[in-house]
Amino acid sequence: MKALLLAGGLGTRLRPLTENLPKPMTPVFHRPWLEHLIVHLRDQGIEDIVLAVKYHADKIQSYFGDGESLGVNLQYAYERQLLGTAGAIKNAQAMLGDTFLVFNADIIHHIDLQPLLEFHRGHRGLVTIGLTEVEDPSQYGVVQRTKLGEIIRFVEKPRREEAPSNLINAGIYVMEKAALDWIPESRETSIERETFPTLIENGMGVYGTSIHGYWMDMGTHERYLQVHRDVFDGKFPLRLSTPMVRDGVWMGRNIEIAANVRIEPPVVIGHGAVIEYGSTVGPFTVVGDQAVIGPDCSVRNSVIWPKARIKGRTQLSGAIVGHGFTVTVGETAAREELEAVMQ
Ligand code: GTP
Repeated sequence: MKALLLAGGLGTRLRPLTENLPKPMTPVFHRPWLEHLIVHLRDQGIEDIVLAVKYHADKIQSYFGDGESLGVNLQYAYERQLLGTAGAIKNAQAMLGDTFLVFNADIIHHIDLQPLLEFHRGHRGLVTIGLTEVEDPSQYGVVQRTKLGEIIRFVEKPRREEAPSNLINAGIYVMEKAALDWIPESRETSIERETFPTLIENGMGVYGTSIHGYWMDMGTHERYLQVHRDVFDGKFPLRLSTPMVRDGVWMGRNIEIAANVRIEPPVVIGHGAVIEYGSTVGPFTVVGDQAVIGPDCSVRNSVIWPKARIKGRTQLSGAIVGHGFTVTVGETAAREELEAVMQ
């Protein structure tokens, strides 16, 4: 079965990190999230993958090419203008089979797809939506279902006590090609806000079933940091590309660590990084490839992207420092000051 990955959006909520980078390409432990996703799908036997791209499509294509190095066949569906989550699926129609999977490529997850596919086969709807449970449904569109799992409606941002469930659309679908007849050609259309409600109104068979396993929408800075924390806490089983050199410390090649440096696990340090005299790195910190932590700095609970430089005795906590950016705040830095990037 083919999978379509929606990877063309602007990622505005994650700016400035996404100023020059598609959101699914943001690094998660030294690799673009999209690479982790493609490998995860390949490991479940999904080797034919279509990428629906628009915003900085060149960065995705130049990184993955035809997918051979990852053991998959990649095709690209380009959009001339942003078509929205439904329009992007319609635009890729010619590359898809009769039944296919769709993923929002910015959803970080680790789930077994077999139960979702079996549910879809068993219920024979036009669409099966993977549902994930949230603690507080008041910020989301919550689903109301029949006993058989058919979705009757989405209740947008219900008061907590009035929510019919705490299950929300996880951004993972199994779809029949016939569902695409309900999407207009060449105009921006949202699958969540337009297509699914229309299919439901017309009784076309939109089902929902819970997915089990790690799930996180990485669309905001807080959630992006949370994903890293969850890997360190063992909640999200991500395969790291750097070896563990001692308990809770993963290090790449050619790292320079000066005297009098404290490494407080858990920490992951990328290839060619430099940690200078008197600095403290960690806990819960990822240092990107070739990043430099200058003398007497402290970096904790943070994600430092490749080639960034932290200087001037700066103390960082809860920060994301973008590719190649230099931080010279001097004293203790608030996170808001530091979510700046230069790609
Ligand atoms: P925000 O601007 O922060 O809301 O991010 P976004 O629009 O990039 O992401 P959103 O969460 O709205 O979309 C979910 C997924 O669909 C993301 O992986 C997006 O890249 C993708 N997506 C959104 N709009 C489009 C589109 O018009 N075309 C394509 N190909 N993908 C899209």
